[in-house]
Amino acid sequence: MSKKKRSKARLIIAFVVMLVSCLAVYAGVKGVGADLFAAKNDNVTADVSVSEDTVSEGEMFVTEDTVSDSESVPERPTVTYDGEHIVVSYNGEWEHMLVNRWNSIPEGYEIDTVTLDNGKQVDSRIYEDLRNMFDDARAKDVYPYVTEAFRSTEDQQGMMKLYIERYIEEGYDEETAQEMAEAYVALPGTSEHQLGLALDINADTNISVDNEAVYGWLAENAYRYGFILRYPEGKEDITGISYEPWHYRYVGKEFAEEIHRDGLCLEEYLQKKYDPDHKTEPSDSEEQENDS
Ligand code: DAL
Ligand code: ZN
Repeated sequence: MSKKKRSKARLIIAFVVMLVSCLAVYAGVKGVGADLFAAKNDNVTADVSVSEDTVSEGEMFVTEDTVSDSESVPERPTVTYDGEHIVVSYNGEWEHMLVNRWNSIPEGYEIDTVTLDNGKQVDSRIYEDLRNMFDDARAKDVYPYVTEAFRSTEDQQGMMKLYIERYIEEGYDEETAQEMAEAYVALPGTSEHQLGLALDINADTNISVDNEAVYGWLAENAYRYGFILRYPEGKEDITGISYEPWHYRYVGKEFAEEIHRDGLCLEEYLQKKYDPDHKTEPSDSEEQENDS
């Protein structure tokens, strides 16, 4: 072989080696996708705005009327009350945002999502903790599955309609059906699912149908990964939603640990943190008791 041909052959070999290496790296990354629960792609931007004309631009908090940098937001959120329900202004700390019947999602709020193997999307910032939580659960023979994650405003409207229709089919009048639906489905524009931070987690029925095992493990352990049971039993008047052992919300590890330790719901925790001196007005009957 001539010198020229030899160097051409070397070049071709080097190119093939490089190509194989690239494919190996790519396969390694995709290998995560073979997991039951993994991201398929990154940087999907989801518009969670409650207004209809917001355009997603692939950036978080890019619209004019949303928080765009840390300098323009107060360090602590301001606290007011709607009746006895706490209303907490959004201060840019995405994982701490309070969303419920009395606290709507800020207009123009946007997120980047990752898509899980089953097509569900979550805010990309919670993905790693979520994956670790699922890996550790499986290591303990508990098999969780994400049945619901991000929902658009339209999805949330559809969910509400479905529930109302179901109750009407069961024989309830429209007003009762609406009330019953609202016990489990947040009003569109006020669902944490629209933030991409809430997950409904049940048993992976390919492996087990034991939802209780999943709920039990999550109740004990989810806080270690930054997730809280968002609608605990007995706190319905505060959260506005019935007990949902499947619904977990990401709030970050610091908040989650304290909420779990003190047995609080998010509303109670935020009140304790941001308005510790708040006193509820005594009700009429309490006043009478004290007078007597
Ligand atoms: N099921 C919860 C409350 C939601 O609809 O966001
Ligand atoms: Zn849910």
